[in-house]
Amino acid sequence: MGSAIDTLTTPLGGPTLPQERRLVTSIPGPRSQELLARKAAAVAAGVGHTAPIHAVAAGGGVVLDADGNSLIDLGSGIAVTTLGNAHPKIVEAVQAQIAQFSHTCFMVSPYESYVAVAEALNRVTPGAHVKKSALFNSGAEAVENAVKIARKFTGKQAVVAFDHGYHGRTNLTMALTAKAMPYKSGFGPFASEIYRAPMSNPYRDGLTGAQAAKKAISIIEKQVGADNLAAVIIEPIQGEGGFIVPADGFLPAVVEWCRENGVVFIADEIQTGFARTGEMFASDRFGIVPDLITTAKGIAGGLPLAAVTGRAAIMDASHAGGLGGTYGGNPVACAAALAAIEVFETEGLVDRAREIELLLKTRLTDLQNADARIGDVRGYGAMIAAEFVDPETNEPDAALTASVAKACTAQGVIVLTCGTYGNVIRFLPPLSIPDDLLHEGIDVVAAALAGA
Ligand SMILES: Cc1ncc(COP(=O)(O)O)c(C=O)c1O
Repeated sequence: MGSAIDTLTTPLGGPTLPQERRLVTSIPGPRSQELLARKAAAVAAGVGHTAPIHAVAAGGGVVLDADGNSLIDLGSGIAVTTLGNAHPKIVEAVQAQIAQFSHTCFMVSPYESYVAVAEALNRVTPGAHVKKSALFNSGAEAVENAVKIARKFTGKQAVVAFDHGYHGRTNLTMALTAKAMPYKSGFGPFASEIYRAPMSNPYRDGLTGAQAAKKAISIIEKQVGADNLAAVIIEPIQGEGGFIVPADGFLPAVVEWCRENGVVFIADEIQTGFARTGEMFASDRFGIVPDLITTAKGIAGGLPLAAVTGRAAIMDASHAGGLGGTYGGNPVACAAALAAIEVFETEGLVDRAREIELLLKTRLTDLQNADARIGDVRGYGAMIAAEFVDPETNEPDAALTASVAKACTAQGVIVLTCGTYGNVIRFLPPLSIPDDLLHEGIDVVAAALAGA
């Protein structure tokens, strides 16, 4: 690790890292290779990794590895470090809190910061109605609890999720998640009373939002029945499923049907929330107001925190003791979340996400115009995707996608793939990344595509 730190021109600490792509070894370098061998020996094989490096520092728009390589970060640790790593206000808040107390368990001795996070979430999430929140540790845990709450409130059991949806890897959330490999294969049996409806996918289905909603609602009515249905859960823009943006009108029609039929509408904004899509929440972009909203990832600058926020009457349906967990709403994570929410609201991050959208979409559309293997460029804010296809058939090209992503990593650019067919590269940079690094990252993607 010494060698990595020695290469810094400024002290360790997120944004003060030199903002450059710098390769001093091949990727992985010798130190990362040693650590990867230790990982293989000590860590369960099911816990995979994308970039074959080991990180020692990160900030702004770079990740520094154990060999002193500085990689451009176009993934934000899967949409988590939206504010960049080690944002000074989060560092300060976390240091102050951990010195004060690290845990009492909110269910034993409550503390103000949990309440303040709930107040902030009730305020910033879509809709002016009276809301309440409950805090958890991970996105999957928030989704599990949103389903529990909706079932308790409605007295009904069925839950509808959508094709290509991703909601986590716990038992209930595996059932809600669409893709078998790698998320579900061999891990069944899955939770019961979960049903799946078709997602609006304009690039693939050619339907308007109204047509796609009619199709989905008809399937829900015929195969589940509103009388049995507690909740519909949907990502307003799908994340792992391929950054699928539904056609205009789809989400409002589904929300309206839920309202008319006593079904709780849950927006899973775990990936799309907190300025990621150029709105504070993606629901705002589509003009919908969810009954419940799940959040995590960008909420606390990288500390584990998640939440369910929603209509007070629904949130209050559970008896005392029915919701919670030892660590849920940990005070250090809450301190980080309060600092993060303040930064989101005061430092123009929604605008920064829109600037990133313009830059990425312009560059990727230029690439698409020059290379028909990019079938679609889509997304909003700092959540943009390029879908790779066979230009003759428009069929997904997972092999091309994997080879482009691998070449990017080898050249010092961390990119993530996604999509049910594994043929999408998703760009999720931290909003703290400088424009020149974004351009350089896309230059590397372009060179990788040209060489593939
Ligand atoms: C939309 C969505 N829901 C739920 C989850 C699960 O969150 P976690 O990995 O924190 O359990 C994710 C994670 O990628 C997600 O993108």
